Amino acid sequence: MDGRNARDDWWRHAVVYQIYPRSFADANGDGVGDVAGIRAKLPHLAALGVDAIWISPWYPSPMVDAGYDVSDYRDIEPVFGTLAEADALVAEAHAAGIKVIIDIVPNHTSDQHALFRAALAAGPGSPERELYIFREGSGSSGELPPNDWQSNFGGPAWTRVADGQWYLHLFAPGQPDVDWRHPGVRAEFEQTLRFWFDRGVDGFRIDVAHGMAKDWELPDLDGLEFPLPEDAEHDHPHWDQPGVHEIFREWRRVADEYRPSRAFCGEIWVGRAHRLAAYLRPDELHTAFNFDFLMAPWLPGELRRVIDATIASHAAVSAPPTWVLGNHDVCRPVSRYARDQHGLDPMARNLVHYQGRPADLALGGRRARAAALLMFALPGGAYVYQGEELGLPEAEDIPAEALQDPVWFQSGGTDKGRDGCRVPLPWTAAGESFGFSPDGAAAPWLPQPSDWAPFAADAQDGVPGSTLELYRAALKLRRELGELGDGSLEWLDGGENVLAFARGADADGVRFQCWTNLGSEPVGLPAGEVLLASGALDADRKLPSDTTVWLRG
Ligand code: GLC
Repeated sequence: MDGRNARDDWWRHAVVYQIYPRSFADANGDGVGDVAGIRAKLPHLAALGVDAIWISPWYPSPMVDAGYDVSDYRDIEPVFGTLAEADALVAEAHAAGIKVIIDIVPNHTSDQHALFRAALAAGPGSPERELYIFREGSGSSGELPPNDWQSNFGGPAWTRVADGQWYLHLFAPGQPDVDWRHPGVRAEFEQTLRFWFDRGVDGFRIDVAHGMAKDWELPDLDGLEFPLPEDAEHDHPHWDQPGVHEIFREWRRVADEYRPSRAFCGEIWVGRAHRLAAYLRPDELHTAFNFDFLMAPWLPGELRRVIDATIASHAAVSAPPTWVLGNHDVCRPVSRYARDQHGLDPMARNLVHYQGRPADLALGGRRARAAALLMFALPGGAYVYQGEELGLPEAEDIPAEALQDPVWFQSGGTDKGRDGCRVPLPWTAAGESFGFSPDGAAAPWLPQPSDWAPFAADAQDGVPGSTLELYRAALKLRRELGELGDGSLEWLDGGENVLAFARGADADGVRFQCWTNLGSEPVGLPAGEVLLASGALDADRKLPSDTTVWLRG
């Protein structure tokens, strides 16, 4: 095992690869990815050089939100496989030096979870209902929702049940929110943490970690927008409530009982650096996704501002920054960066924010490669969403009748949602489904674009300059060079369109340097050995636009 990965603080530098199991690899031929598929592709992940994998929910689920509606947190969805296969995967990943992080969904369960079914059956006023957020409606006969909260997917956040009460769901109606004040809820999730920690799982990604506590007066939003302004003095009624921190202190105590150290990564959309850092105090979560980096446009000033704010806010709580360009909820970076980057909505992350802007995918691809090398050189840890290492673009033309994301349905067909980044991966240029499933299998659960052969893993394997080989080389260097990963950086002066920084000790005057040119003109580079570049340098050794280079100089 790699030296740093064997250490107790492995999470401070880790490159974590996100597996979306439905779309990663299908071994049994039903058109949906599975645990056997992940096991078969472990050599790909080991050759890529990642430190850990994070597996999106693989639990039994009615799949109204692709598995983020969990009906049993302590088993495996039969479509994906069995608990025995999951155990085997964890053992095999560990043998390959790869940590395993799984996804916990604590803000809500499925409406098919035994606890919600019991709550429905027991009726109003019962102890069973207290684990969820049931209320009487407003209006003269309770015919209106209890308040004006909206589902994240569109429409009201409340659904009425047959006996007349309403229950809260910040996401789909099939995802009822639980009441985290209830000791039964706390005990249930603690048991789930221990169940998987005891099986050797190395950590959890925490779904909607900023949503678990609510203002229990359940006040109307009255048009309150989120994220709140940087200097807001009031809280939002259901996002980033102060009460959430107590829950994570409890969870940290559980994680700290285990050796080697187990780690948490929070999915926290708060849009304010100091509020994000509050989750990373030493007795709370280890890490959190830095979505500000993901949402920053490909513009030097914006990126520099986000990098500086991230480093400063994380340093204040001694937490390592993390960097992320994509996941299963956002438009793929190649397609985001393919668009004009000026004047975007500050929360621009989904396809809906970019449609209508012409796309230059070759440009987007160049920028995404440059962004990846920039990300891997920054201090802390990094996330890679499956397919980024292949340079996959968003699938923007999925026919309406094939779309599955609840966003599409709850938005009344106005927002195509997230299916475009969830299309099954192309493994081979030849073959049906580009090798996602065995030949002769059922069609993939989402259709793949017909022109994806050049992106296939086998089409890039061993090909100098391919995105796959770039990622492999970057992660290999990251393991070899002690300067990369956790630590600090020193900015260098490369001009206003360049992000340039050095890492590591300066004793002999030779340091690791990362230079990214975000301008339209080539820029001169300092002397030194070129370690890796996201694209060819000019003949006179200048750094072309939208290119990153790693140097020793
Ligand atoms: C998170 C997940 C997303 C899911 C939502 C509700 O944001 O990443 O996929 O729809 O939570 O669980």
